[in-house]
Amino acid sequence: MDSLQTASTSGAQKLDALQTVDPEIYAAIHAETERQQEGLELIPSENYVSAAVLNAMGSVLTNKYSEGYPGKRYYGGNELVDQVERIARERAKALFGAEHANMQPYSGSPANHAVYYGLLEPGDTVMGLALPDGGHLTHGWKVNFSGRYYNAVQYGANPETGVIDMDQVAELAREHKPRMIIAGLTAYPRQLDFNRFAEIAEEVGAYLLADIAHISGLVATGLHPDPVPIADAVTMTTHKLLRGPRGALILSKKAHAKAIDRGVFPALQGGPHNHTTAATAVALHEAARPDFKSYCQQVITNAKTLAEGLQSRGLSIVTGGTDNHMLLVDLTATGVTGKQAQVALDQANLTLNANMVPGDQRSAFDPSGVRLGTPAITTRGLKEAEMHLLANWIADVVEHIDDEATLERVRGEVADLCQQYPLWY
Ligand SMILES: Cc1ncc(COP(=O)(O)O)c(C=O)c1O
Repeated sequence: MDSLQTASTSGAQKLDALQTVDPEIYAAIHAETERQQEGLELIPSENYVSAAVLNAMGSVLTNKYSEGYPGKRYYGGNELVDQVERIARERAKALFGAEHANMQPYSGSPANHAVYYGLLEPGDTVMGLALPDGGHLTHGWKVNFSGRYYNAVQYGANPETGVIDMDQVAELAREHKPRMIIAGLTAYPRQLDFNRFAEIAEEVGAYLLADIAHISGLVATGLHPDPVPIADAVTMTTHKLLRGPRGALILSKKAHAKAIDRGVFPALQGGPHNHTTAATAVALHEAARPDFKSYCQQVITNAKTLAEGLQSRGLSIVTGGTDNHMLLVDLTATGVTGKQAQVALDQANLTLNANMVPGDQRSAFDPSGVRLGTPAITTRGLKEAEMHLLANWIADVVEHIDDEATLERVRGEVADLCQQYPLWY
């Protein structure tokens, strides 16, 4: 467990009232706590919050209605909520060097929706990374609002290399003249060239939205190129690498502050979730400490080590490695599908998700790859030595996908490791 987590172990979950009042829900939460303790969490968008974040999340701030913004609310009794939201806003601005911050989006998808709403008109052309190549639903995918109410053009990754083709981005931008270009990733293991995106956006007169949901911690600590000075708006979830509660925030240039604030409230949302705002403030406070940078460095080192370990066992890593916290394994050559691998690894208490890989011929429901990441296991305290164990376990399961004995052995070894690195709760 890293030092940020051990520093806050005093407030372990107190669920006594819940146990008495609602034993059914208590039992489910208790069992989920055990599941988290006994398995290794490899989904790159997940993490473990500190006791301090969980305390704020479970606080009486959930009782308060606060439509509006600090100093301008539609309900009385908001002096202390104003204080909390102002602190959160200042911390977000300071951590990311931003001109403006909106702390109210309920989650990452609503945050992106609010930027669309604030800066665009329905039917405007937007350009984002295609979902199968690592983009998010909200970047213009057809089943999402962004693909339905906007004219979405999708750029992609080179099917041979898996790397985003920036020349294609430039060509498509010149051809389609989008009002907004979205640069962000959900399943892409390489750095985003925000400078090039900004140049292209400027050339065609588009806004640039950087969605750093996955890489917020790396951006905050200088371990990934920073879009904040050059993008019109930057959105992020707070529950991934940033290690906060489920939620999101939007950074923007002052010039767009009013439009984006209105896009959040009153356009898309009512009252903000004040308990979440408080918990986000705590996470931002923790992320401003020097040990958060060491944590993020270890996240990258672990991802690189895991990628090398898997490669040494003959597995193919999309783009040949990783620059960030995640990796994509292309299982095509193994004859095992992404879904089969996900299910078998789940049985061994290794949790990850099946994922499409660039040029995938299979369906999104049972694609050719798996996606895995190191934020949660690094919070747990795992380092390079454990990445070698992990790579071997994953390769063993994939090689012996139908062999119960292998799954059972790996499950036991995973449980032993988890006991050596317990979560704080
Ligand atoms: C890049 C990106 N943007 C937005 C989101 C949406 O966040 P949420 O699931 O909180 O709506 C995600 C979620 O994984 C994401 O990866």
